[in-house]
Amino acid sequence: MSKTLHSLRGMHDALPDQTPAWLALEASLAATARAYGYQQIRMPIVEHTALFKRGIGEVTDIVEKEMYTFEDRNGDSLTLRPEGTASCVRACLEHGLIHNQQRKLWYLGPMFRHERPQKGRYRQFHQFGVEAFGVTGAELDVELMLMAARLWRALGITEVSLQINTLGSAEARAAHRSVLIEYLQSHADRLDDEARSRLTTNPLRILDSKNPEVQAVIAQAPALADFLSEEDRANFAEVQALLTAAGVPFSVNPRLVRGLDYYNRTVFEWVTTALGAQGTICAGGRYDGLVAQLGGKPTPAAGFAMGLERLIELMAAATEAHAEASAPEITADVIVLWPEPAHKPWALIAAEALRLALPEQRVQCVLDGGGLKNQLKRADRSGAQFAVQIDTETAGEPRWSLRALRPALPQPPELALPPAEAAQWLSQHLSPIHPK
Ligand code: HAM
Repeated sequence: MSKTLHSLRGMHDALPDQTPAWLALEASLAATARAYGYQQIRMPIVEHTALFKRGIGEVTDIVEKEMYTFEDRNGDSLTLRPEGTASCVRACLEHGLIHNQQRKLWYLGPMFRHERPQKGRYRQFHQFGVEAFGVTGAELDVELMLMAARLWRALGITEVSLQINTLGSAEARAAHRSVLIEYLQSHADRLDDEARSRLTTNPLRILDSKNPEVQAVIAQAPALADFLSEEDRANFAEVQALLTAAGVPFSVNPRLVRGLDYYNRTVFEWVTTALGAQGTICAGGRYDGLVAQLGGKPTPAAGFAMGLERLIELMAAATEAHAEASAPEITADVIVLWPEPAHKPWALIAAEALRLALPEQRVQCVLDGGGLKNQLKRADRSGAQFAVQIDTETAGEPRWSLRALRPALPQPPELALPPAEAAQWLSQHLSPIHPK
């Protein structure tokens, strides 16, 4: 197959044997969001580039190097969304959703970042995100972390730990920033090119450097913690006290700065060691300045997002559900057979009637019929428990007879049954433990 007819690097199909796990995860996420009073919102996948530049920050890795940006036919600069928070705030402002009111929203969908693909890091990936607006108190920050912890329990994920930090207020960061630049400038000879280029633009990101030489400089750098105001400190102490009271173990990581510029005060990441290098499965924090920065009234806000590919990988390792999901695929519970070509219309009608009567079951009609032997082979491959066979018409009516397709199943009555009775018999005898 020619290369252009392959999926793009870092962008993957979810195949039929994987989609049951995705559906189960999405159902669990939606149920948890609902349990905490969040409402779903769906935003477009493409937005004006300016939204992400202003929202995420001009000198972040995402905006500088990772966005899928293109001009549309009108010459407008558009971008495939690299995350959901900026779009969510834009939608809230556009539709007046957070005007003088608290609002809790969740979303789920594909995001796009042109990163170097590796296990757990993709160019199209999926996030489940929640955003809460209009609440200043530390109880919101902690409720968000509790929500993630509840999800880990629901999903059977155990090897995960919580790291938190505070970035303080905008004023604290500004004061720290100027002292930090001064310090780093005085050690410029020990920095690498990337760090030097960040010196005047975004010195906080230098703290993320993986270069050991740069890390040695950072280790002695003035810490943001020394610039926090009394209120910031009290706020962070309250976050920690509430987490402790709620019984959620955590560690404070002063190096946690996050790759997006909109955060202030509490930031957090849930990290696992079970996935190798890409171990962050959930990340978020407060972003009290973003709504005003995107043109709204100053509005406190906080949220998080989780990477679904990483969760699926973790769940695959952790749960039995995976074994079930990867068992031979079952695509029918009941299948309609019609060995005589003349019975084609009846077969279609029979399948419709069964779908109506058995809304929870998968009902298939054998397509491209063939003889009885051939149809039984297909019935077997579908995994169906029972077949409804349409046979010789008596006085213009078809005859419905039932067949059990697996040895352990109850034998249906031998007599031909009218459709309603056949459906009722099936509803009583289809096995509830048949894998979905
Ligand atoms: P983020 O840290 O950029 O934050 O991404 C959140 C999560 O998305 C990561 O922890 C990871 O699980 C997943 N993720 C990110 N990039 C990739 C990738 N290339 N491949 C696979 N998974 C990935 C945000 O996006 C913020 N909007 C979170 C937030 C919401 N903060 C406040 N509200």
